[in-house]
Amino acid sequence: MALRVLSNGGITVTATSVVGLQWGDEAKGKIVDLLTERHDVVVRYQGGANAGHTVVRGGEKFKLSLIPSGIFRPEVQCVIAGGVAVHPGSLIGEIEGLAARGVQVGANLLLSDRAHVIFPWHLEEDRLLDRQCTAGEALGTTQRGIGPCYRDKYGRSLAVRLGDMYRPNFRRRIEQIIVVKNRILAALDPAGETSPLDAVKIFEEYSAYAEKLRPHVTDTTAFLLDALEADRRVLFEGAQGALLDVDHGTFPFVTSSNSSGVGVSAGSGVPGRYLTKVVGVVKAYTTRVGGGPFPTEQDNPIGQQIRDRGNEYGTVTRRPRRCGWFDAVAARYTARLSGVDAVAVMLLDVLSQLPEIRICTAYELDGQRLRHFPSHVDDLRRVTPVYETLPGWQEEIQQARKLSDLPENVHKYLERLSQLLGRPVEVVSVGADREETIFVPQHNDERKQN
Ligand code: GDP
Ligand code: IMO
Ligand code: MG
Repeated sequence: MALRVLSNGGITVTATSVVGLQWGDEAKGKIVDLLTERHDVVVRYQGGANAGHTVVRGGEKFKLSLIPSGIFRPEVQCVIAGGVAVHPGSLIGEIEGLAARGVQVGANLLLSDRAHVIFPWHLEEDRLLDRQCTAGEALGTTQRGIGPCYRDKYGRSLAVRLGDMYRPNFRRRIEQIIVVKNRILAALDPAGETSPLDAVKIFEEYSAYAEKLRPHVTDTTAFLLDALEADRRVLFEGAQGALLDVDHGTFPFVTSSNSSGVGVSAGSGVPGRYLTKVVGVVKAYTTRVGGGPFPTEQDNPIGQQIRDRGNEYGTVTRRPRRCGWFDAVAARYTARLSGVDAVAVMLLDVLSQLPEIRICTAYELDGQRLRHFPSHVDDLRRVTPVYETLPGWQEEIQQARKLSDLPENVHKYLERLSQLLGRPVEVVSVGADREETIFVPQHNDERKQN
């Protein structure tokens, strides 16, 4: 993939962002791992441990939730920026889990003092509210306390940021918040199945976490701005997918952060004008975990075949993912929204052996063709997808390492996706391992394929 380096008022900067264009799990982790070798800093800027990013290196599989997928290269600085919701216990567990497998996590991980902290009450609220809020259909959250933590962030009065844990009034703060939270939890749970939370216990638990995390905690906004001004190359790793964006996704069946490209600035503190390349990641088909409309869903043997071949079970919750055809209406919308320059098409190997493959190229609503992706979920629920059918391919393609290794029908499929998205396909993935990747030579590309 060509990296574009812009000369910007005398300062040369390169900042790349990787964003999922569907409902998450597009294999962003794999792409970030691959692109890390061309960057100095890798940043997570939104979401939390609801994310599950998989990196497969030499056949060994790693699942990352909060730690950036750049962590496997010790010379790269990883950053968890202020827009992330952090459960300190989960983060420590992840650091220790990596260390036990020989992956060094020390000064190479920075953690923003502005990041909001997830507490036990957030986990309880997530559990109790999931079904009640969305009138009938459960949101199906990952139960990691993400929504309740962001709600408190925007509400402000009950929020705690990581930096607050090191201040003398931290204990008092917990005591004050817990009085209110115990009342809220009692109201949410009239059956009284949950017992009141204990301020002293939580204070002690979180003080211990704070001590363990202390070496990592800093002002990451200042760090990133300094890094960019010093010409260091920064890679932003989006979590979730753009259709789960709280403002621009399929609300209310979304996550609670800006998971489309628009979230990079707010979450990291880095102005959008620094970005020189945006890579949109898509699966060669579509999946969704949890509730909400999914126009191209195949709740039938085809969907099951995709689920089986793609091992489509949640990285975080192991829930079976809902599977369906590629939705070019949705992905074109999110590619435009996120300012995508180039597309990475992932899990293409999963589609082998299907007699034919469909792509949704338009939506109809009440007999009319829609010009745009619907902004209201009720309309999205009612659309009829218009499909184009392409011939499938029977060959397994996991061994392909260059475009010419791929069957003709794969070329046709990729060309059509690229045309519908209005962007070049620069990466094609045919397996989970980093080796199972094809970089597509672009015009003016200095990288030559062997
Ligand atoms: P992320 O959340 O976007 O990082 O994606 P996940 O890790 O949740 O899900 C992607 C899954 O697909 C992981 O199990 C990856 O190891 C796997 N994967 C990545 N690329 C490919 C590919 O090209 N083919 C296949 N079969 N699996 C892949
Ligand atoms: P990665 O980064 C897929 C979904 C949940 C649920 C909704 C809200 O691995 O792509 P939340 O716990 O965030 O309040 O849940 O969002 N969801 C994801 N789906 N991949 C993810 O992350 C997701 N993170 C959240 O299933 O429908
Ligand atoms: Mg995932």
